[in-house]
Amino acid sequence: MAETFAVKLEEKCYYPDPRCKATAWTPDYTQAYSEFLRDPEGFWDRVARELDWFEPWDRVREWNYPYAKWFVNGKLNITTSCLDRHVAGGRKDKPAIVWHGESGEKRILSYEALHREVMRFANGLKSLGVGKGDRVCIYMPLVPEQVVAMLACARIGAVHSVVFGGFGPDALAMRINDAEAKVLVTADVGYRRGKTVPLRELASEALAHTPGVEKVVVLRRETPAVELDPGREVDYADLVARAAPDCPAEPMDSEDPLFILYTSGSTGAPKGIVHTCGGYAVGTYYTTRHVFDVKEDDVYWCTADTGWITGHSYIVYGPLEVGTTVVLAEGTPDYPDPGAYWQLVQDLGVTIFYTAPTAIRMFMRYGDGWPAKYDLSTLRVLGSVGEPLNPEAFEWYYRAIGGGRCPVVDTWWQTETGMHMVTTMIGEPMKPGFAGKPIPGAVVDVVDRTGKPVPPGTGGFLVIREPWPAMLRTVHGNDERYCTYWKTIPGCYTAGDLAVKDEDGYIMVLGRADDLIVVAGHNIGTAEVESALVSHDAVAEAAVIGKPDSLKGNVIKAFVTLRVGVNSGDGLTDDLARHVRKSLGPVAVPAEFEFMDRLPKTRSGKIMRRVLKARELGMDPGDISTLEE
Ligand code: PRX
Repeated sequence: MAETFAVKLEEKCYYPDPRCKATAWTPDYTQAYSEFLRDPEGFWDRVARELDWFEPWDRVREWNYPYAKWFVNGKLNITTSCLDRHVAGGRKDKPAIVWHGESGEKRILSYEALHREVMRFANGLKSLGVGKGDRVCIYMPLVPEQVVAMLACARIGAVHSVVFGGFGPDALAMRINDAEAKVLVTADVGYRRGKTVPLRELASEALAHTPGVEKVVVLRRETPAVELDPGREVDYADLVARAAPDCPAEPMDSEDPLFILYTSGSTGAPKGIVHTCGGYAVGTYYTTRHVFDVKEDDVYWCTADTGWITGHSYIVYGPLEVGTTVVLAEGTPDYPDPGAYWQLVQDLGVTIFYTAPTAIRMFMRYGDGWPAKYDLSTLRVLGSVGEPLNPEAFEWYYRAIGGGRCPVVDTWWQTETGMHMVTTMIGEPMKPGFAGKPIPGAVVDVVDRTGKPVPPGTGGFLVIREPWPAMLRTVHGNDERYCTYWKTIPGCYTAGDLAVKDEDGYIMVLGRADDLIVVAGHNIGTAEVESALVSHDAVAEAAVIGKPDSLKGNVIKAFVTLRVGVNSGDGLTDDLARHVRKSLGPVAVPAEFEFMDRLPKTRSGKIMRRVLKARELGMDPGDISTLEE
């Protein structure tokens, strides 16, 4: 790990309209934070009481470093807080999901309809032999059925593992096998930029290497409907049509697993992050309500895919727990044209909009003209997530999209944290470039490698000092890796990000301290890309680094040594790009390749990526004493 370092901070401050503060769920951040600090357990106890439980908890928290339990012995099923209580409590006809397809199709599911669909699909899963604790892999496009499948698993206590539909067969197979999923839910195709993505075909390739999968449920969207393999495949619609309508929610212990979600690690295979039922429900509920300030009439749109944690926490669970109307849109932000998103905001009257800096920077490049064509006056709150929101992008978002009227909540968090940890709560002064302060409920700090806080203006490691309800409980099948989070810096959860604080305690996130590359908001592990490259016949060794990019935050650059006798001409770069795309998906494809005779390595044979990176960026490589000849 690097040492701490000085950071020059330039600050500008925006003061939101005082009216947002007056009506916010958290009208006074400072007071809310001190209430939390005075009695953390009391704080979370009050939040948890706002959800539905079958049986209350004995203790709010049990902390046995590095293991935490929350709402100990409480029994709940997250779907009753997401569905049943809204159906019973006056939101039966309220739209729960408003879905938009790329070519303009629209579907609306009320809370009652969603409840019904979830129960039927849950019974369908049971009829395939899925029960409490079994793992189900979901590999689907962004359609309501994806949300239904997740909630159906939760309904019966099965553990879902959603794999983003942009991943390829190798990435899918690895995740299915690691989670030991027995059922896969997929679709024939997804639609993207007017083309089809052949999910079922990609899944079939993966399934050749996943002996544990017994059944595959296929949602058929194309006409004529694709023929299924009767031995292995089941039609989604048939399964639902045959299923009984009522499915009582399985009572789950607070600490039973709710889902596994894979996130890339710096070394070795991706990590299966395990989240549990009780704490995750409470953490996502609180942050959705308070960070986005959701009110009864809001129309909420988070543009992420459900295959990422942002989708899990802030498309599915949090928003449905608070009972809002969730917009789902399949497709890309600039198709059929760069006004696509703004058209939807206008047509649906979106009030809360949550997206990623990479999208904001792309819109910025298309210019103010596009958003200016649409009526965006319904917007009330703007959110950002996934990577640092640089000051230029903040200002453009605030002005061109928010009309200088909407607070911008830049939310820092991770797959592992499950919920927002740092942001600027609505009504607080906003500082472009700074995510903000810890939310009430989180104790976040910037420290040196011994865990001592560093002074304002000094860069250090971003850590979390106390356990929080939606924290990961373990890494599936690899508890040692879980412990590493809490043991790298003594007594703290190390996020792996570098950050700096200012005099007011605002936190600016500077980027990853380890070998993860955040490309367009997607977290890519160097190891996964390198191993995909090395699996190509021409490649001997590969090292990849992240290179700053004005649009995507970072792009991947690959340094490759070739096998003897292979030369780098004849379209080899295209072939390597295709190879990575096929195995990991488009997000992981390097933007640049450089062929080298050999890679810089330590004497023990570890590739020194930081040396490559320093050379690439014209920076000092630091200590190179371990570099081999
Ligand atoms: O480096 C941070 C960056 O994304 C990482 C977490 O990635 P992932 O687990 O895929 O989750 C992404 C969605 C929560 C973090 O370690 N990151 C996320 N949000 C921000 C951010 N960096 C700066 N500012 C943010 N708001």
